[in-house]
Amino acid sequence: MSGPVFTRTRTSEASTGGTQPGGTRTSEYAEQLIRGRRATRAFRPDPVPEDTLREVFSLAGTAPSNSNAQPWRVEVVGGARRDRLADALRTAHAERRVTADYPYSEDMYAPVHRERRAAFGAGLYGALGIGPDDHPARAAYDAESLGFYGAPHAAFLFVTGDGGPRLAADAGAYLQTLLLAMTGYGVASCPQGLLSFYADTVRDQLGVDEGKLLVGVSFGYADENAPVNRIAAGRAELEETTTFRT
Ligand SMILES: Cc1cc2nc3c(=O)[nH]c(=O)nc-3n(C[C@H](O)[C@H](O)[C@H](O)COP(=O)(O)O)c2cc1C
Repeated sequence: MSGPVFTRTRTSEASTGGTQPGGTRTSEYAEQLIRGRRATRAFRPDPVPEDTLREVFSLAGTAPSNSNAQPWRVEVVGGARRDRLADALRTAHAERRVTADYPYSEDMYAPVHRERRAAFGAGLYGALGIGPDDHPARAAYDAESLGFYGAPHAAFLFVTGDGGPRLAADAGAYLQTLLLAMTGYGVASCPQGLLSFYADTVRDQLGVDEGKLLVGVSFGYADENAPVNRIAAGRAELEETTTFRT
């Protein structure tokens, strides 16, 4: 645990919906930041400078959590460590050594979720030129993604404590804060649940002995020319997911 607990101050602009320096309204800034983030699946190889890494992960650490418990542990890799880990993940995948701390089952999805997933998959694999029934090509692409989509860095988000769903919710808040912090610094990202399927491999490679692995995040600078980075995943209409009651 690090850092003081009650010393953070808020800017009045951020809390009241005012104006940022430079004249941009905070709401416009929020729109730009939140809508400006999207999952990136092709990266340039150049690493993110160390000071930017520290700024981004410091900002991510301001995420809210129940009673400010901050039940997460984050491992950030780059360089030779990243390369070794990518190799180990691909090997674990080839040898079917799946070790997920959070069990996965397709049964967790409702029919409407399945429809949305299918629409997303059609868009993603379509952009890659992979047909809907080309299951081997889809599987090969997924296996290849264990190389972090070519990103120079990856972060692994472990839930500490008992790692149960309540604490995983806190880690989810951390995850989105991290993704937005990266966006603000011009760093592209892709959260990858697939990376968490090989939790023991990650633990072994990084020497981690605390927490349950929830998700990995590949990140770096986007390859703006890659067609796969031009897909835009739509969203359900507001009324489909949200009810306003008075
Ligand atoms: C918890 C979580 C796990 C994800 N796992 C993967 C993954 O394993 N591979 C992948 O390519 N994208 C993954 N994604 C990215 C989603 O596909 C993406 O966020 C979603 O389709 C919406 O698109 P957008 O992020 O571009 O708005 C994941 C996202 C989240 C939040």
